[in-house]
Amino acid sequence: MCGITGYIGSKNAYDIIINGLQRLEYRGYDSAGLVLYDNNDINVTKTKGKVSDLIAKTTNTTGQLGLGHTRWATHGEPNDVNSHPHTSNSGNLVIVHNGIIENYDTIKKELQNRGYTFHSDTDTEVLINLIEEVQQQNGVKLGKAVQIALNQVIGAYAIAVFDKRKPDEIIVARLGSPIAIGIGKDFEEYFVASDASPFIEYTKNAIYLDDEEMAIIRVGRKVKIRNIHDDTLVDANVQKLKMNLEQIEKGGYEHFMLKEIHEQPHAIFDTYRGRLLRNEGIIKMTGVEDNMKKFLNADRITIVACGTSWHAGLVAEYVFEEFARVPVEVEYASEFRYRNPIISEKDVVIAISQSGETADTLAAIKLAKEKGAFVFGVCNVVGSSIARETHAGAYTHAGPEIGVASTKAFTTQITVLSLIALRLARAKGTMSSSVFRMYLQELQLIPKKVEKLLEIDNHVKDIAKEYLLSTNCLYLGRGYNFPVALEGALKLKEISYIHAEGYPAAEMKHGPIALIDDRMPVIVIATGKRHYEKVVSNIQEIKSRKGKIIALITEGDTTVREIADHVIEIPDCEEPFSPLLTTIPLQLLSYYIAVMRNCNVDQPRNLAKSVTVE
Ligand code: AGP
Repeated sequence: MCGITGYIGSKNAYDIIINGLQRLEYRGYDSAGLVLYDNNDINVTKTKGKVSDLIAKTTNTTGQLGLGHTRWATHGEPNDVNSHPHTSNSGNLVIVHNGIIENYDTIKKELQNRGYTFHSDTDTEVLINLIEEVQQQNGVKLGKAVQIALNQVIGAYAIAVFDKRKPDEIIVARLGSPIAIGIGKDFEEYFVASDASPFIEYTKNAIYLDDEEMAIIRVGRKVKIRNIHDDTLVDANVQKLKMNLEQIEKGGYEHFMLKEIHEQPHAIFDTYRGRLLRNEGIIKMTGVEDNMKKFLNADRITIVACGTSWHAGLVAEYVFEEFARVPVEVEYASEFRYRNPIISEKDVVIAISQSGETADTLAAIKLAKEKGAFVFGVCNVVGSSIARETHAGAYTHAGPEIGVASTKAFTTQITVLSLIALRLARAKGTMSSSVFRMYLQELQLIPKKVEKLLEIDNHVKDIAKEYLLSTNCLYLGRGYNFPVALEGALKLKEISYIHAEGYPAAEMKHGPIALIDDRMPVIVIATGKRHYEKVVSNIQEIKSRKGKIIALITEGDTTVREIADHVIEIPDCEEPFSPLLTTIPLQLLSYYIAVMRNCNVDQPRNLAKSVTVE
């Protein structure tokens, strides 16, 4: 949840760290801090607030070794003192940490009994003092002390530590939270970060630590990686980064979220490119082909995910059952992992995650594997923990998603899952070849239709103006578009702080209808052909209770146009793919409402992009 960055080499560390923190701010942004080693001493600056506040507060910016941190608070409220970095009692050791040390209280008491004092409420300050205590008691080097200390802690961490008495070395370690090491030319400089974005302009060579690994980074030498628990040496797996700088910058848009909404035609195209081969009339996905038997023999498919990814899973439930006639269950990863689910080797579990780092999803995967299931990952971030933990998978290829509110991740997840469902349908014989070809063609038309939809930007902005002062909002959809109603409501909630709920349209009369009055905007997705008349009746029910209706209709629909207060036209498409279109105006609507309410769209309060804690 927090962002870590660090540098050691011959450049000015401050610029690299601040730049890196700005790119990592999506991970947490309630406080920020940095430490620089200069003139045989360390200078720590930290503050509640954002990286911009840190820049304003920092006076000393010199040094060629440093660490930075942007925080999403877990232990201790966001304030200057609880911000990272934290130093040990002697002032020699300094640490930045992403994660939670669960047994910190017990360790803290033991350390207090030995005379240690604590200034913050954080678990991180406990960890750095534990490392110091181990170092002093055992007379060992920093790397060894970190290793011994980490063997005593329970929890999750990505840490970076250095000792001011040995300023040519940074120690990093991970368990449950990501950490990447960027390797400079001839090992003359190293970068450390929660993801590769902070060092992308300096090097394309990176090592992603695995869980339970620690690395000793020394200038002029190759990185040495060890398993924290059994002390074995691990071969460094140096990866070539494909990300480029442009992808992680705003490219002229006011916010990352808007940029990412507009990237969707391209992102969806990239997702099926090379997989959907229309001329040959086939879908080719290595992860699926290689494991086709597992998919075909499965009694059912269980999907685990959180948040928006869970909504994509719900869309997939409809698509898989319709196309491939296989029973699908969709579970919140956080529930699945704790409820002793009935899963065996006959199950296929699909884990969906944009970041590939979500702690609950990761734990659900581990549990499903323990129970013998075949686990397939649908991730966006290449090389992420979930991508590595699953038996096989398919990337969404959406490109970096920086805005905390997921947009292109959702539509590309649906695209990948639809491709898998189509492929299975052919393999199982549940779809004729002509229908299959029709769907392939239809899917290829989606990017153009999304492009067309994005042109209604100003129309959506006008609607947003009318509802920016709303305090509640209802979203209704049916069938494939019920999950879109949930997703639309989540988008509005998370970035504009307006309370919103999504429901299957027919459920309205079982409770939510009581909420409808002349101040309640109701967004109704009325594009579906299967339940069209029923949804029209729901719209009438809202109208007669004076609710304000914003309806998503199929181009040319005049019936709903006459009843609704506002309509947004959606290009006609085959119903199973309609979520790829109906989602777009809902993303824009929440975006514009949030902007008009002066909310921080890319960094909504209390949220973080990747939730690596429970
Ligand atoms: C979506 O807008 C959210 N920020 C959030 O619900 C997110 O989808 C969820 O935390 C899951 O993240 P993941 O896809 O990276 O696993």
